[in-house]
Amino acid sequence: MAAILKTQSGLYAQFTVCLIGLLLLPLPSHSSDPDPLQDFCIGDTKSELSVNGFPCKPAANVTSDDFFYDGLSKEGNTSNPFGSIVTQANVWAFPGLNTLGISMNRVDIAPGGLNPPHSHPRAAETGVVINGKLLVGFITTGNVFYSKILNPGQMFLIPKGLVHFQKNVGEEKALLFTAFNSHFPGSVVLPMNLFASKPSVPDDVLTKTFQVEKTVIDEIKSKFAA
Ligand SMILES: *[C@@H]1O[C@H](CO)[C@@H](O)[C@H](O)[C@H]1NC(C)=O
Ligand SMILES: *[C@@H]1O[C@H](CO)[C@@H](O)[C@H](O)[C@H]1NC(C)=O
Repeated sequence: MAAILKTQSGLYAQFTVCLIGLLLLPLPSHSSDPDPLQDFCIGDTKSELSVNGFPCKPAANVTSDDFFYDGLSKEGNTSNPFGSIVTQANVWAFPGLNTLGISMNRVDIAPGGLNPPHSHPRAAETGVVINGKLLVGFITTGNVFYSKILNPGQMFLIPKGLVHFQKNVGEEKALLFTAFNSHFPGSVVLPMNLFASKPSVPDDVLTKTFQVEKTVIDEIKSKFAA
C-alpha cells in the first residue's frame, strides 16, 4: 500500500511539474508578424536606428499620402528570361505597412512566362487572378505537389514558407495580385538562391546535391550570371 501511494505521489509531482512547464511556455501566436502596438507606424526607412521593423516617422510628419500607394498600378516589364516580373508593395516600397503584418505584390506574366519556384520565409500568401490563365502550384515539405489552372477572379493560397510558382498557360498576358501576412515576406527564388548567390555556392556542393557533372552546374550558373 505504501509503495502504491509513493508511486501515485511521484506521478502527481511529475504532472505538476509538466503543468507548470506548460504554463511557462509563451502563448502560441497564429499571426505571422507581431501585432502592432499603436494605430500606425509609418516606417522611417532611412533611419539609422536598427530595430526589428522600422522606427516610426513622427506623427506630426504623417500625411494622407503615407496610407496610399500607386506602385502596383503600372504593368511590369516582362522582357527577361522568365517572362515574368514581380512588383512589390512591401514595407520598403510602402512604409505605411510597417508593423501591420500585411503587404501585396503585383505579378505580370507574359504568355508562356513563369514566376519561378520560390518561397516566402515569413508569410503565407493568397492571390487572385485578374487576367489570363495560370497554372499555380506548390510543393509541401513532404514533397507532395498541389496545383490547379486558374482563370480571372479565382483565388489560391500558398502555406507559409512552401515552394511555389505561377505559369502563364494561356494566350494572353496574365496579371495577378498577391497578399501576405507579413510587411516584408522575403522571397527565396530557388535558381537565384542556389546558382547566383554572392559569393557562389561551391561547385562541389552543387554537383553533389544534384548528382551531376560540374559542366552542368557551370551551364546553369552561366544563365544567371549577373
Ligand atoms: C519631420 O519633419 C521635420 C520638419 O519638416 C523634418 O525636419 C524631419 O526631417 C522630418 N522627419 C522625418 C523622419 O520625416
Ligand atoms: C523592357 O525591358 C527590356 C529589357 O531590359 C528593354 O529593352 C525594353 O525597352 C523595356 N520595355 C519598356 C517598355 O520599358
